[in-house]
Amino acid sequence: MPPFAMPPVPPMALSLDTARGALAPEGPMLVRRMSDLEGLFRSADAWRAACDGDDPVVYEVTSSPVPELPRELPQSVTTIRPGACGGEFHMTKGHQHPDPQGEIYLGLSGRGGLLMFDGERPEWVDMGPGTIGYIPPGWAHRSVNTGDEPYRFLAVYPGSAGHDYGWVLEHGMGLRARRGTGGEVSLVPYDG
Ligand SMILES: [Fe+2]
Repeated sequence: MPPFAMPPVPPMALSLDTARGALAPEGPMLVRRMSDLEGLFRSADAWRAACDGDDPVVYEVTSSPVPELPRELPQSVTTIRPGACGGEFHMTKGHQHPDPQGEIYLGLSGRGGLLMFDGERPEWVDMGPGTIGYIPPGWAHRSVNTGDEPYRFLAVYPGSAGHDYGWVLEHGMGLRARRGTGGEVSLVPYDG
């Protein structure tokens, strides 16, 4: 066997409960509340009012036990709860990979969008059950719940990719996903 073949986890099968967003065996879990999303929604007033209110959970991430280490392929299931803040749909923080590597998202349930930005061009991919969204190397990515139910997706990514959240605060994401008057998705320029 090659010298690096001392994996921290053995070959295994994971059970994915699509309805609950659960993985078994399960690794670390992350909960992001509105107060964790400072500086991301355009309306700082709406964001602060939500924080001062019940500070709702916006999304949760459940990971498999596969660690974020070079050569590994970790997986996670993210569930974004429905809702909006100042008219902007609930969304993840978004991040860039410090080690520019690709990633795939597989839609599991609900309706959502995958917003990508390379620093100049934004791209939007509608996501639903069975949709595979491909994130090329060098594209920051954020997920958005555009429906009335939880939007859930599976992510598979290189273990050395990392998460740079500051990149999004500095560069934005090119577009914002707002809820139109009829509930439809309205994509507007980041400053709009
Ligand atoms: Fe990523």
